[in-house]
Amino acid sequence: MTIRFNDETFRDDYSFRNSAEAIRRFPFPFDKDDYMYSVNMEPHGTGGRAGSVFEKRFDVDEHYVAEMRDRAITLAGDPLRCQSLPHMELAGWDLLELIMQCKAEDYPELFQLHRDGDRWHWINRPLGIEQRFTFLDPTTLPCGPLEYITRQAQGDFAVLDQREGNLWMDAGMVTSQADWSLDFDIGMNFFEWHAPVPKAAEMGIFQRALKFLLAVQQGAPSRRLNWTMTVNPRLDTSPENYHLWGPEKRTITPENVGAKQYLRVELQSFWRLPRSNALAFPIRCYLIALEDLVTVPKWARRLHRVIRDLPDELADYKGFAVNRQIIIDYLAQFDDGKPTSPGI
Ligand code: HEM
Repeated sequence: MTIRFNDETFRDDYSFRNSAEAIRRFPFPFDKDDYMYSVNMEPHGTGGRAGSVFEKRFDVDEHYVAEMRDRAITLAGDPLRCQSLPHMELAGWDLLELIMQCKAEDYPELFQLHRDGDRWHWINRPLGIEQRFTFLDPTTLPCGPLEYITRQAQGDFAVLDQREGNLWMDAGMVTSQADWSLDFDIGMNFFEWHAPVPKAAEMGIFQRALKFLLAVQQGAPSRRLNWTMTVNPRLDTSPENYHLWGPEKRTITPENVGAKQYLRVELQSFWRLPRSNALAFPIRCYLIALEDLVTVPKWARRLHRVIRDLPDELADYKGFAVNRQIIIDYLAQFDDGKPTSPGI
């Protein structure tokens, strides 16, 4: 398989674009015409549908190189986007091993990992990186293991310590988030960092989700999809930089909504790490402009109904209430009122 990497930006001139192939494989998240939070977990791992974003364990696509460049820009401006409390060093090595191993096995033409005992040799062709290092010896890498590997992997990463029957956000790399902050959440537990989410706690979702996550076994990862809306193809929609992207919400008009309003889908997966017993939580972000999404009629029809009927609290929380009517009016022209089939 050959991937042609886009030269594009996720800020300033926003030159990000999805190819026809990227549109075709976009992880459309709705399996029915309405939406409410649920514990929508399913198995993840090798053997996903060929060509889909679920085929490989850590999907690498045409945006890889540009996303890594964007991460480096964000980190240069704010190093606290990557943090690891002292007891999480081993989990960082676990994550480095997991990602290197999966990428080398799933994309051998792009990544290679050679191991001779604890002497490892890593080759990342798309980013032009070649690194010899000693596994578990931090002095042999240019930065900590978590930062090293997540500068080379698309998506954000939360790494959770498991203790006292709870998960604790004690490490992470977070530069492409939907308006939450690692620096704010660091050291919080599962219920604390989820406190701002409306409705879900009283529905018992977080109790059930935590129970499921505490039992995730090594070698048996799971995944779920989450979604929101973003104006412009911006990865860094962080509270820290709200002053940069918040005002852009006010630029949406009926004329430009198709081009500037994006559906943002997160492919979240859950991995037990072998030495530390920590849980890795990669959050991979996929963006699609509404004008590209509506090229698939069943997606356009369904998204119209989901956004139209979404409870107000969810539209407020997800931050698109201000543009909701413009989005609904735009999508309505693609909804012929026909019934849809269950499933994606
Ligand atoms: C939102 C982290 C697992 C359900 C969030 C937020 C964070 C987060 C940081 C944003 C909260 C805010 O507004 O500040 C995590 C981490 C997880 C995890 C690190 C893994 C350990 C789950 C699971 C579920 C879930 C398994 C299952 C249902 C939700 C929901 C939202 C949310 C429904 C609101 C999202 C939205 O409406 O856009 N999560 N989460 N989370 N989380 Fe989780």
